[in-house]
Parts: sequence; structure tokens; C-alpha cells
Amino acid sequence: MSKQDNLEVKRVAGLAAAEEVRDGMVVGLGTGSTAHYAILRIGERVREERLSIVGIPTSYQSAMRARAAGIRVADLVDYPEIDLTIDGADQVDADFRLIKGGGAAHTREKCVAAASKRIITVVDPSKLSEHLNVPVPLEVVPYALALVEKQVAALGGTPALREGVKKDGPVITDNGNFVLDCDFGTIADPEGLETKLNALPGVLTCGIFTEFAEKIWVLVGESGGCKTLTRSGPWPSQ
Ligand code: 5RP
Repeated sequence: MSKQDNLEVKRVAGLAAAEEVRDGMVVGLGTGSTAHYAILRIGERVREERLSIVGIPTSYQSAMRARAAGIRVADLVDYPEIDLTIDGADQVDADFRLIKGGGAAHTREKCVAAASKRIITVVDPSKLSEHLNVPVPLEVVPYALALVEKQVAALGGTPALREGVKKDGPVITDNGNFVLDCDFGTIADPEGLETKLNALPGVLTCGIFTEFAEKIWVLVGESGGCKTLTRSGPWPSQ
């Protein structure tokens, strides 16, 4: 799929997800190129339909994009309960387990996911995989970098420090930390690996998300429209 076609199917998924927002909702706003289209469309709906909603951004990027789109933003301190979150993913497996953190925003994304009653994961078809097998982003406290690298290797992973683009040296997250992209090949036990990685001293958050499957809807953008995948039947009526 060309880059342009890939952006188009991301747009299809983002726009479809934005239609699920209802007046009065607290809405989690994801990070990345697919969630961006949802933010743009929610902003349009706020203007056109006079929706009264509050957006809870998952990053500086989504906060800036939401403000530019005319969405009122607040944070998790003000709204620890979120009606609906729309966010992207780097990979989704057959059991709706995710790998996230391609934009280094997975710590806030996991907090927002945990606070959400429902989640719409918006992806292009390349993100669907029977098994999780892309590198797992870990947000790491800089002080513990070498220790975490050793611990990841002991668990069978190959860590790589994420480097900045148009910035020399490592990526610094919105929380002031580093990111280690850890290749484990095909992950046979995502729950077990998530638990082990989260327990490593120096790891703030691991990019494997296994605990949200029951509240996730996956919208897959396609050239002819959007495919909806659910594990628990149809979306409850609003
Ligand atoms: C950011 C994320 C993004 O949701 C993920 O990287 C997908 O991004 P995109 O929609 O641009 O493909 O986890 O930390």
C-alpha cells in the first residue's frame, strides 16, 4: 500500500470513530496519525453540532491538535473517568491485545485507557496480526537505562535506544524519560511478558496492553469503508 493510500485508510478509521462521540462525553484523545483524523472530525462536530464535550489528551501532540481543532481539553486529574477513548495502535492481535508506543506516548495512553469505559482502537489493515511480534516500547527512567537493557536481555529481548529525529541523542518522552524498543520476536505470552516488563526497576510503562480487550472496539480503515471488530458483540446503544 502506498503512503498516500495508507494515510487514506487511517483517515477512514479516524473519521468513523469520531462519529461515536456523543454530546456530554468525556473523550480520551489518542496520539499518532490515525487518532489525528478523529481529533479533526471531533473538532468539526463540536463546531457544526455544538457538541459539549471535554477531551483528555494522551500527549502534548494530541493536546495541541485538540486545541487547534477547537476541542476543550482537560486532564486526567480533572476527569479520572472517561466515557470513550479513540486511539491508534502499532499492532493488534486476534485477542485484541495491543502494542503501543510508536509515538512514545504509551504511558499516558495506558493511563487514559485504564480510565476509559470504552476504547475505539483505530488502525490501518497492516496493524492486524495473529500474534504480537513488533518491538515493545518501554518508557525507561534515564538513571536506570543500562540496568533495564541488561534485564531485557536476560528476558530474551534485544533493546534499542530510540533516537530522536531532528534532535541529536535519545527521544525524550512527554514525561522526561527514554524509550527502549525491545525486540522479542513473536511474543508467545503477552500477559506474562507485560507483567515481567512492568516489574523491572526503572521501567515506567511497557507498550504491551493486554488488559483492555473487553472494552475495545477495533475500527480498521479500508479503501471501501471501515471494518468493525468487537469481542463482546455490538457496541452498547448510547
Ligand atoms: C503513540 C501510539 C500510536 O497510537 C501508535 O504509534 C499508532 O500510530 P499511527 O496511528 O500514527 O500509526 O501508540 O504512542
